[in-house]
Amino acid sequence: MKKPAPAAVRQRVAQLRDAIEHHNYRYHVLDDPEIPDSAFDQLVRDLRALEQDYPELVTTDSPTQRVGGAPVEAFAQVRHRVPMLSLDNAFSREEVLAFDRRVRERLETERAIRYLCEPKLDGLAVSLTYRHGSLEIGATRGDGAVGEDVTHNIRTIQSVPLRLAGNGFPEVLDVRGEVLMSIAGFQEMNRRAEAKGEKVFVNPRNAAAGSLRQLDPRLAASRPLEVFFYGAAFAEGARLPGRHSEVLAALRSWGLRTSPETRVVEGVEGLLAYYEDIAAKRPKLRYQIDGVVYKVDSLAEQRELGFIARAPRWAIAHKFPAEEEVTKVRAIEWQVGRTGALTPVARLEPVFVGGATVSNATLHNIDELRRKDVRVGDTVVLRRAGDVIPEVVRVILEKRPPATRSERLPDRCPACGSDVEREEGEAVARCTGALVCPAQLKETLRHFASRRAMEIEGMGSKLVDQIVDQGLVKDAAGFYRLRAEALAELDRMGEKSAAKLVQSLERSKTTTLPRFLFALGIRDVGEATAEALARHFRTLDRLRHATAAEIEDVPVIGPVTAAHVHAFLREPRNARVIDALVQLGVHWPEMPSVEEASMELGGKTFVLTGTLASLSRDEAGDLIRARGGKVSGSVSRKTDYVVVGADAGSKLKKAGELGLRLLSEEEFLALFGRKR
Ligand code: IVH
Repeated sequence: MKKPAPAAVRQRVAQLRDAIEHHNYRYHVLDDPEIPDSAFDQLVRDLRALEQDYPELVTTDSPTQRVGGAPVEAFAQVRHRVPMLSLDNAFSREEVLAFDRRVRERLETERAIRYLCEPKLDGLAVSLTYRHGSLEIGATRGDGAVGEDVTHNIRTIQSVPLRLAGNGFPEVLDVRGEVLMSIAGFQEMNRRAEAKGEKVFVNPRNAAAGSLRQLDPRLAASRPLEVFFYGAAFAEGARLPGRHSEVLAALRSWGLRTSPETRVVEGVEGLLAYYEDIAAKRPKLRYQIDGVVYKVDSLAEQRELGFIARAPRWAIAHKFPAEEEVTKVRAIEWQVGRTGALTPVARLEPVFVGGATVSNATLHNIDELRRKDVRVGDTVVLRRAGDVIPEVVRVILEKRPPATRSERLPDRCPACGSDVEREEGEAVARCTGALVCPAQLKETLRHFASRRAMEIEGMGSKLVDQIVDQGLVKDAAGFYRLRAEALAELDRMGEKSAAKLVQSLERSKTTTLPRFLFALGIRDVGEATAEALARHFRTLDRLRHATAAEIEDVPVIGPVTAAHVHAFLREPRNARVIDALVQLGVHWPEMPSVEEASMELGGKTFVLTGTLASLSRDEAGDLIRARGGKVSGSVSRKTDYVVVGADAGSKLKKAGELGLRLLSEEEFLALFGRKR
């Protein structure tokens, strides 16, 4: 048996931890170190040595434990106590004026509003929970209601304190912030990856997101991730101050890094001046921002203003205009999509614009191409905003070299040689070789296998290319005839991955009717339309026997889509593929009728707490009562569901204690077949 640690050792360990936390804070949060790096490293080494001698002293929030954890098997889900919302955007001065006017009208005041302004950081949102000052959970935003548990990676970020400083912090604190990568850190990381022949990231944001979504914390630890906090969503055991600016000051005092560029301003002139100021500073910032955020500073006023849809009324993001750059067109190629649509794509000399290196840009369709008259060899203005597909804005005619020629629509499909057709009045030209064109088949199969369709895990884009090129699959049903032996022979596959793929193919056979209809890739049938069709007809059989006029009866479906659906299902070769899919075991539970769906709530008791983003409490109550449910004002054991909105308080706590079934707004709406 080892001797327990003597008191002196315990004390020294505590001292070292405090010192390390303090210097970490000076370095990463204040950007103002007091001691040289070598002295800091020595403190960590000393602590490590003592912890090695006395392992019982190791705690999860010890500074030596940032990369302590083993890889996780999968990401657990984390339900956000308070939903993570998004922001409305303003793109012009006028839109900012309108925002300020709306705020003053709602607050019924003429006076200038006090706003807190912050840069809009271009990273990804995270929510961190500290319990008794110790980091407990770090989660991604996810769909706003439920995110992924990435605590193991969040812990590796040096600017995230594992323990809060001081002692004025709440017992439980949920803070919100943005994880990002500095531009220099990103470039350095890509340089190293390139040298090793590894994958490079397109921009710092994707690199930060990719790093955070790793199962092995050692990977995240090796990436230059940083964090800035921009708000507190929940506090228990201590009151937060009454102004957003004061909340940020409190976060700072607890060791949580906030942006040094935040300012309190008065009125709309203050907002616009801040925008100009940050726009001028932007090229000198260490990290990417895509605009600024204005928030009403008073939290009481924020509560009064509330929310609409997914965004608060008390805040807005004022975005910078899309960036433009000049580059040259090397080639113009035609890409063939799932429905045979030909899209002209410009291959460009790579250029850095809007935070990424761009070498392709869409030219949309033949009409756009003609209008802009983009030619091979042209110098063009390229625009890219955020994650939007880059686009050629115009040609700089003065720079056009001699002997260029206008691009023409090809007569034959570049992938299969079939005729290209363009219907009267349509902008889009299509390859007519629906059943022979490998490009169309590949896109059809990719869509069929995709996450929102049949969700065949592991059936990536490159694999589909191989499978089609080798003639292994000729239509979607062919997926389910694939054998492990054949798959194992493919590039970068092996017996193990082949077996896994066969398993996920098997798993994907259990699906839902809306997903199946969506997966078929019928023109104009997106997820919402597929859902509407499934709800209306309830069985595939009924839909297949419906006339075009009957299909048009479905709410949200117009005559053109109805005709597409009808023609698709009647087409004999499509019908054969559908039959084969069902024969091979693709199945789904029966869709409940509208009446059945609504009966489910009969006699159930609901309690609503917090603010719902997309409907008022009265509206929510009406929905529940209309379907036979009851609404109660207080939580008890008899409560069936507690619907949790933003800023939920004591009722949520009680519901948690009673172990009641909680519903996010999304889940609640889904009971009624509605989306936010
Ligand atoms: S506040 C209810 N502040 O922008 C307010 N968000 O479009 C929600 N973001 O998901 C967020 N910088 O990832 C806020 N200073 C800032 C921000 C910021 C970047 C991101 C965040 C959020 C998205 C909303």
